[in-house]
Amino acid sequence: MKKIGIIGFGNLGRAFATGILSRGIFAREDVLVCSKSDSTLALARERFGLYATSDVSEAVSACDYLFLSIKKNVFLELAPSIDRKKLADMIIISCMAGFTVAQINGALGFGARVVRAMPTLAIAEADGIVAYTKTDDEKISSMFRALGFAFEVEEGDIEKVTVYAACGLGFAAYLLDAYVRAGVALGFDEATSKKIAEMDFASAIARSDYKATMAEVATKGGATEYGFAHMTKNGVDANIASALLATHRRLMGEPGE
Ligand SMILES: NC(=O)c1ccc[n+]([C@@H]2O[C@H](COP(=O)([O-])OP(=O)(O)OC[C@H]3O[C@@H](n4cnc5c(N)ncnc54)[C@H](OP(=O)(O)O)[C@@H]3O)[C@@H](O)[C@H]2O)c1
Repeated sequence: MKKIGIIGFGNLGRAFATGILSRGIFAREDVLVCSKSDSTLALARERFGLYATSDVSEAVSACDYLFLSIKKNVFLELAPSIDRKKLADMIIISCMAGFTVAQINGALGFGARVVRAMPTLAIAEADGIVAYTKTDDEKISSMFRALGFAFEVEEGDIEKVTVYAACGLGFAAYLLDAYVRAGVALGFDEATSKKIAEMDFASAIARSDYKATMAEVATKGGATEYGFAHMTKNGVDANIASALLATHRRLMGEPGE
């Protein structure tokens, strides 16, 4: 059986391990974790039942695939100590945001087989969004399909997915959190506010046509219409687009605001 090394066992590494183990994509004995701290290594061993090491060379020598869930500065630190010969035989799946195949290969000093992937943390529940660059390796594409909504993208578009889908999960939580806090400001207790916010967002999603729902709820001259006007006047919708575009510009290395 082919083996996979998960390099970096933080938020994404753990979500990936949870997803691939629960979906039976890799058997436990075919998954190896490389991380830095003793506490993370212990967690990988004790809670996930996985072999774990802090030695990246060991991970590389034992695996057919490497799943890079480390930050790019960590990759740059580790790259010089990785055996090129072994790397040349394997496929690297890089989830590092804002770090191109050319930059990865530049750090390695040769043209490795690199697939860039951008998953959301919901791959843990096999309900993620995963964009990935072209690969002829069927195991990789079927793995991503098993983890949720998976689709191929050109590398030049991966940062758009990073912002809209991967950061997007956090942005969605941010908006919901703001709505829950607004409910508390109105006087609801936290639990009731959360319940109402989640039910309203879920109902809006279930109804699907957002513009139609807006029109149906907002009677002419009524409270909802007043609320919409207030939001628009204060730039709520424009600010959401502006935040996503600014995040994309930052990922593309353009100067921040
Ligand atoms: N979080 C997301 O939603 C998400 C989504 C898509 C892509 N990504 C990308 O995934 C990468 C990781 O993000 P994250 O949120 O998972 O970060 P994170 O929670 O900070 O995890 C980073 C992991 O890297 C490990 N690490 C640090 N130095 C190391 C070393 N020298 N050798 C081996 N492992 C080392 C850390 O180990 P210790 O725990 O032992 O310190 C930690 O487990 C980033 O490049 C990010 O752009 C993240």
